[in-house]
Amino acid sequence: MTEYSEKFEKMKIAGNLAARTLDMLTEYIKEGISTDYIDKLGYEFIRDNGGYSAPLYYRGFTKSLCSSLNHVVCHGIPSTERILREGDALNIDITAIKENYYGDTSRMFCIGKTPIKVNNLIKVTYESMMRAIKILKPGIKLGDIGFEIQSHVEKNGFSVVRDFCGHGISNVFHEPPNILHYGKRNTGIELKPGMTFTIEPMINTGKFHTKILNDGWTAVTKDKSISAQFEHTLGITENGYEIFTESDKGYSKPPYF
Ligand code: MF3
Ligand code: CO
Ligand code: CO
Repeated sequence: MTEYSEKFEKMKIAGNLAARTLDMLTEYIKEGISTDYIDKLGYEFIRDNGGYSAPLYYRGFTKSLCSSLNHVVCHGIPSTERILREGDALNIDITAIKENYYGDTSRMFCIGKTPIKVNNLIKVTYESMMRAIKILKPGIKLGDIGFEIQSHVEKNGFSVVRDFCGHGISNVFHEPPNILHYGKRNTGIELKPGMTFTIEPMINTGKFHTKILNDGWTAVTKDKSISAQFEHTLGITENGYEIFTESDKGYSKPPYF
């Protein structure tokens, strides 16, 4: 037993609910359905499993999840008007609250056949998140996380979004520290056992600059290039880390590699 074991147990429950929501959605996400239908399915699943969707009414957000298509970087708003079509690259970001704790996770979904460059973007984005996760242990610094992501991404010719970052998370949705997805080795605060946060790199095929649409939420790439993202919620243990949002079904990892 450690002083944070109870927090970790609760975060595993919330994280697992968020991951199971994405697992459930996987079979519905197909050409012809709207992003609002995905929102409805997500809302109902979380509710039916004893949780709440954190985005709903969060700072004026009116939906239960974020659906970010193609050049949308993050915070896309589900809509009955947007029907999924062949070639779309979609991120679904779920945050579930259960017993007061939060689990926050996102994955990419490809509708039919997506271009090779987009598949490669998705692969590199996932790899960059996992490379950063694998180095986690007490004593490393936040800059080591950013460095791991940025170096892998730039080696592959893509760019790391600067305007959004990962965050501390526990019984609060967003709390310090900010987890930047770019940075220099051996800089920033040191990781300590019991810390819980997200890693959620947003990676673009073009330049890293973003802008927010008039709805006040939707973040898009300025140059209209394609953007991908994955997100896990995790905790730092005595000698490593624990991922709270791993798929029970092996769906955390994109299917094409
Ligand atoms: N889930 C997002 C994150 O990873 C936050 C979404 S806030 C919302 O931090 F209001 F847009 F839903
Ligand atoms: Co997050
Ligand atoms: Co999220």
